[in-house]
Amino acid sequence: MDAWEDYITIKTSSEPKFENLGPASEYLASDQRKDLWNDLDYNSALARDIYPLPVTKDREGYYGTDHFSYWASGLKDTLLQLEMARKYNQTISSYLDLGCASGRVIRHFATQFPNIKTFGCDINRHHTEWCNLFLPKNLTVFNNSSIPSLPISSSSLCLISAYSVFTHIEAMETAWIMEIVRILRPGGLAWITVSTQETLHDMNEHWPLWRPIMNHPDKDKILDEKRSFSGNRAVFRYRGDRSYSSNTFYKADYIRKVWSRFADILEIRRRCPQFQDVVILQKPY
Ligand SMILES: C[S@@+](CC[C@H](N)C(=O)[O-])C[C@H]1O[C@@H](n2cnc3c(N)ncnc32)[C@H](O)[C@@H]1O
Repeated sequence: MDAWEDYITIKTSSEPKFENLGPASEYLASDQRKDLWNDLDYNSALARDIYPLPVTKDREGYYGTDHFSYWASGLKDTLLQLEMARKYNQTISSYLDLGCASGRVIRHFATQFPNIKTFGCDINRHHTEWCNLFLPKNLTVFNNSSIPSLPISSSSLCLISAYSVFTHIEAMETAWIMEIVRILRPGGLAWITVSTQETLHDMNEHWPLWRPIMNHPDKDKILDEKRSFSGNRAVFRYRGDRSYSSNTFYKADYIRKVWSRFADILEIRRRCPQFQDVVILQKPY
């Protein structure tokens, strides 16, 4: 039976059984998508990350059987964030990945940038348990809930990311933005990926979101023939009535108008690095 906590978290009451993969170096040769990462100098990073990889089902299905690509995608995202911080003249000594799953990104902060104090959290207890059992001890990882409140002091972190999290949040999104801004130090940066109306326009059958959206029973109610929606957000609910059960798309103008009430919007980057857009926020000094 579910516990009441399962309405605000995921997999609270079930015990995970993990069967792990080896470290990423074992999967380079067989990876079908390794050419995606030709711009990355990953050899020394591979040597430093000796930790197991989660099996596909324990990493939200990311990259299917291309285990090296799963690992490399996290390294790419790490480097893009740090390059962005350099662009805005911010030194990063602390970092949180909200919705970290089984550590796709935080494992790289822990192994490649161990001087950055790194936190991860997720509403799925199996994910946070995986990180705590198998990733390096310099990470601090905890299970949060869908209520926008995190056990981290105000004005304490330099950088916060949320990858593919606001793409599923359909309630209390402004409170989540406020919570992120509360924790950031003045000048601190947030990297929040979102799906927008442009995402819907760009999408084709090779995109991961194509099938769930195109086959969604409410598609024709929500989208017109040009795949545009009226209003500021389009929410496609696709599982029960619990948290993390929808795909949410925003109008970029809505984000500019509303999220800028809470922090400065430095950029909205289109399709970075692949499918989603990134909103880069800075807490005002
Ligand atoms: C599509 S997955 C992305 C995982 C990870 N960010 C990555 O890029 O590999 C979304 C993750 O966000 C988590 N999540 C959803 N809503 C959340 C919330 N309000 N707080 C923390 N985690 C959340 C889910 O449990 C899931 O692990």
